[in-house]
Amino acid sequence: MSNPGPERLATGYPVRMQPFRLRTTTEQDWQRVRDLRLEMLQDSPLAFAQTLEDARGLSEDEWRTRGERGEGPTTTVVVAETDEGRWLGTMGGYLPEDGTGPWLVGVYVTPSARGRRWDVAPRLLRAVERWARKHGDVLSLEVHEKNLGARRFYERHGFVLDDAGPDRGRVRHRIAEGEWELRLIKRLRG
Ligand SMILES: CC(C)(COP(=O)(O)OP(=O)(O)OC[C@H]1O[C@@H](n2cnc3c(N)ncnc32)[C@H](O)[C@@H]1OP(=O)(O)O)[C@@H](O)C(=O)NCCC(=O)NCCS
Repeated sequence: MSNPGPERLATGYPVRMQPFRLRTTTEQDWQRVRDLRLEMLQDSPLAFAQTLEDARGLSEDEWRTRGERGEGPTTTVVVAETDEGRWLGTMGGYLPEDGTGPWLVGVYVTPSARGRRWDVAPRLLRAVERWARKHGDVLSLEVHEKNLGARRFYERHGFVLDDAGPDRGRVRHRIAEGEWELRLIKRLRG
């Protein structure tokens, strides 16, 4: 990937995007899984079905279990990792027992690695879609209705509102009372 030059963080500190590769997480990654999760919840408190306070209260064993979800029987967690071992972002997939097929969850790219030039988010999404195709024809997700940046990202990558059910694809936020999320779906075949 050609490097278009230094980016600037809000602090004015310039950062240069580095090459990265994708991999799934394991139990041994638990500390970095924890650190990235806490960053996500601080950056975007309403984007995930967990509060920062709840995450801060998790034990080492629970973080180890979350690390294992990278390669679980019904879960995947993919991270974008630089050659120096820095994690730039993550996306996960899981298969709920209710038979609704694969869901995309835990979607996050650290602010300095966002933007179409870097391709972090699209590559993570493609990796989860490859996993999802083994488990179903449709990939589902929920996104806060006011999260326009994420909604644009999903729409650009083929997700549409799932307005077929009685709720017309609008569901109550799991942790924020009075807030609403949209259920989006993407057909993975033909
Ligand atoms: C959702 C998310 C993963 C998408 O990744 P992304 O890199 O922003 O998406 P793209 O690769 O499509 O980049 C395009 C967008 O990045 C914006 N962008 C470019 N550089 C950026 C930067 N340094 N910081 C923030 N946004 C930037 C562009 O303006 C463009 O936005 P636009 O569509 O409004 O024009 C990312 O925005 C994110 O982690 N958001 C916070 C967590 C979140 O909301 N998760 C979704 C939960 S459902």
